[in-house]
Parts: sequence; structure tokens; C-alpha cells
Amino acid sequence: MAKKLFIKTYGCQMNVYDSLRMQDVMKPLGYQPSESFEDADLVILNTCHIREKAEEKVYSELGRIRQEKEKKAAEGDKMLIAVGGCVGQAEGEEIIKRAPFVDIVLGPQSYHQLPEMVTRAIRNNGGVVELDFPAVQKFDLLPEEASPQGASAFLSVQEGCDKFCSFCVVPYTRGAEYSRSINAIKSEAKKLVERGSVEIMLLGQNVNAYHGEGPDGRSWSLAELIAQLAKIDGLERIRYTTSHPRDMSDDLIAIHGSEPKLMPYLHLPIQSGSDAVLKKMNRKHTAEFYLDIIARLRAVRPDMAFSSDFIVGCPGETDRDFEETLKIVEQVGYASAYSFKYSPRPGTPAAVEEQLPEAIKDERLQRLQELIRRKQLAFNESCIGKTMTVLLDRDGKYDGQLVGRSPYMQSVHVMGAEEYRGQLVDVRITEAYMSSVAGIIPASSRGAIFAKTKDVSTGSQEILRSNASALAAG
Ligand code: SAH
Ligand code: SF4
Ligand code: F3S
Repeated sequence: MAKKLFIKTYGCQMNVYDSLRMQDVMKPLGYQPSESFEDADLVILNTCHIREKAEEKVYSELGRIRQEKEKKAAEGDKMLIAVGGCVGQAEGEEIIKRAPFVDIVLGPQSYHQLPEMVTRAIRNNGGVVELDFPAVQKFDLLPEEASPQGASAFLSVQEGCDKFCSFCVVPYTRGAEYSRSINAIKSEAKKLVERGSVEIMLLGQNVNAYHGEGPDGRSWSLAELIAQLAKIDGLERIRYTTSHPRDMSDDLIAIHGSEPKLMPYLHLPIQSGSDAVLKKMNRKHTAEFYLDIIARLRAVRPDMAFSSDFIVGCPGETDRDFEETLKIVEQVGYASAYSFKYSPRPGTPAAVEEQLPEAIKDERLQRLQELIRRKQLAFNESCIGKTMTVLLDRDGKYDGQLVGRSPYMQSVHVMGAEEYRGQLVDVRITEAYMSSVAGIIPASSRGAIFAKTKDVSTGSQEILRSNASALAAG
């Protein structure tokens, strides 16, 4: 009999990708994706440990799921609860101590073992914990058949991080840097395109540190990977995230000027505009180094747009340091940016430093976000009157409205464009808001359809939808 699997995803895009892959790995055991946890036989929370809030959300969600599990048990039915992702990796056994109704805890490197863990949990009544960083990579052991993802797809090419920024848990939860081989990525990309994807977002915690094995046995760079993928017919757009400034190599900068399929948008987190803070953060770059990369990218691709992550209130951040951060935002003129209050994470060096008062963090975050909002609006307003190709892949809030992404990652709303669902189409931007723009399809480009896509399965849609909120949280 078919069983139901519900996965809730928190955190970054890599978790979104991993959730899709967990769905794939459970399919042969008869688990079909479900849209809600109430009727699920197996509930997986794919968690994020990046900030305290992200972690707390997991425990409050577990409380809700526990009630459902008890209700089911009273009716003689079983519900297995698994906690995966970065909280799973960081807290391990502690989760079962704090929430004994959790049956399985697994780290991000153990997803290929999920079927065996589920079988063990059913047999032993829970208590299964798997947190190893195995020598054999999960990517090689996951099923080759990946579910279709729709017009825009995620593809993990790199995992882990060797940077050890002093505030960050990722190197501890995701382990050392690892890159998949060029051939493995190419074959997955081809399958995604065959199944309707026209855009692929290459993912990695440190994606531009990519150095996978090429067909010639040599280690290939991200730029070389992009050049290979660009040859795939039907793949129209390539993006990659997240990049570290130190790994913006010359060939990667250059390919932005020569490869039209590579979108003119880059998420390049700087975290702080102050060199003193960057040093404390162990970022291994200065503000000047960062600005030079921006300038070089704009030199090869003048319409290049940027986004960043910022952390305010790290230990030791002075008012002057914070002013430097505001200055960077002014200088770069970001198309969008994410900003967070520093959250001390257990086991990281910055957590044991003297902490700034919450009120200072709050005030700085408000000022920074106000400036970022103004910059975003200015960028969106600068697009009014321009025509840009938009991948209309989602329903809007209103009847007959579709939403898609511009080359610069803006959300673009279009009314009355139903026939263009899942397609790349030229849109003239007519209105600008803080976090989106709206436009119309000019008569001249009506009928000019660039690509067609197939439907996606419900389960994948649910996981991909959760991406929007995941990104806001992450
Ligand atoms: N690999 C990516 C970042 C992953 S985490 C990179 O290097 O940029 C996403 C963002 O969360 C980070 O860019 C950072 O801005 C933020 N972040 C990480 N640790 C944090 C912490 N302890 N407190 C607040 N924000 C944090
Ligand atoms: Fe975290 Fe720094 Fe690695 Fe990004 S580069 S994942 S912020 S340690
Ligand atoms: Fe892990 Fe991604 Fe969060 S790597 S800690 S899920 S941001």
C-alpha cells in the first residue's frame, strides 16, 4: 500500500534540493509525497541551524507534529518522525533527549541511508541516529532518477565549507568542501532539461570554490562547469549560489562577459563593510578586495546586478564599523540584500566573545534594512520602461496573474499571461515596488515563446514552494 511522506524544509536552497532527493530515495519504498503532515506515515523536518531562531522553529513544529503522532497512535496508526538537516547534525542525540517522540535523527550526509534507517526505526521503535560524514559521498548513492522540478531547477554541485568564518556553523554541520564530478552534474542537468527545466541554479555552500573532477581527470573550475552546461540544448539560463569573494576566480569573472546563458546577477555576501570586523569574522578579504570584484564583473557585464548577506552586531562591532557597512550598501547599489542580527552559535569562535546588547543590534538592523529597502526600490525603479526576459513559472496572488524571475532575480508580476506559464517571455516593466516589479507582454513579443515546460509533480511543487519561505528565514 502507498505510504505518505511529508517533508518540511527550512534554511537554504541546498536543503530544498536535499528534500527533493530524500523524496526520490523514499519512492522505491512506496512513499508518495504528501502536502500536509496530518496524514503522513513519515514526517521529515529538514532543518537549519544557522541562527537560534531557525533552530527554535524546529522544536515548536515538533510539538505540533507530536500531537498528530499521538492522535494517530490512539487510532492504532503509526507515524515516524525524522529530523534531518543541520540541526540534526549539530544536536544529534540531544534532539531525542529533548523530544523523545522523534524516531530518527540524520545529518545532511546520510540521506542515501534513509530507507534503511526507516526500516530500522519501524523494527526497533525509533532511536535511530546517523551523523557520520561517510567516505562514500551521498551524491553517488542517491537514485539517478531525480523528480522533475519544473521550469527552474536546483542542482547541488558542491557541498560543505572550509572557510570557517568565526560566526558560522556551516563548516561543522556540512563538513569539508566536496565537489561532484563534471560528468555527474552534466547528466543530472540533462535530465532536468529533458523534464522541462529551462533554468538551473547550481548550488553549493561555497559554490565558486567548486573543483570537481573533469572528464580528463583534471580538477575543473566552476567557470569550466558552466561552459559545459551552457552547451545543453534547451537549457537557457544558468545561475549559481552562494559564492565567497575569495573564490571569485579570473575565469569565473570572465565567463560573465562571454556566456549569455549565465544570468547577470550574483549573490556575493560581504557580511560587513568594516575591515576590522571582516578580520574578526575570519572572512579573509577586505572591503576593497570585494569592491574590486564588483568593478571587474561590471567591466565585463555592465548590467550585472548584485545581492549580499550582512550580519550586524557581531562581537566587537563599533558604530564606526557599522557605518562602513552602510557605506558599502551605498557604494554597490544592491538589487537586493539579506541582513541578520548576529546570533551566537554553539561551538563557533565568535560565540564565546563578549556580546553586544540586543538593543544595539536591533537599531543597527533597522537602519541597515531601511537603506537596503531604498536601494532595492531604486534598482527596481531603474528598470521601468526596460524589456527583459522573464521565466513565468509561478501563480501570482490574483486570478490570471503569473510571477517569474527577471535576469536580475526580481519577481516580475504579469496579468493575463496564462498561455505563457512555465515559459521565458519578454516583459516590459511598467511598475516598480520594493520587492517586485510588474509588467506587460508587449504585442510584438506575444507568441514569442522561448521554451515550454512540463508540469511538476505535487510533492516537488510543495517543496519548491517552501523554498520561498525558507529563503526568507535563511
Ligand atoms: N555560504 C554562504 C552563507 C551561508 S549562511 C556564504 O558564505 O555566504 C547564510 C547567511 O547567514 C550568511 O551569509 C550570513 O549572513 C548569515 N549567518 C551565518 N551565521 C550567522 C549567525 N551566527 N548569525 C547571524 N547570521 C548568520
Ligand atoms: Fe559559513 Fe563562511 Fe562558509 Fe559561508 S563561507 S558557509 S559564512 S563559514
Ligand atoms: Fe544548514 Fe543551509 Fe541552514 S547549510 S545551517 S540549512 S543555511
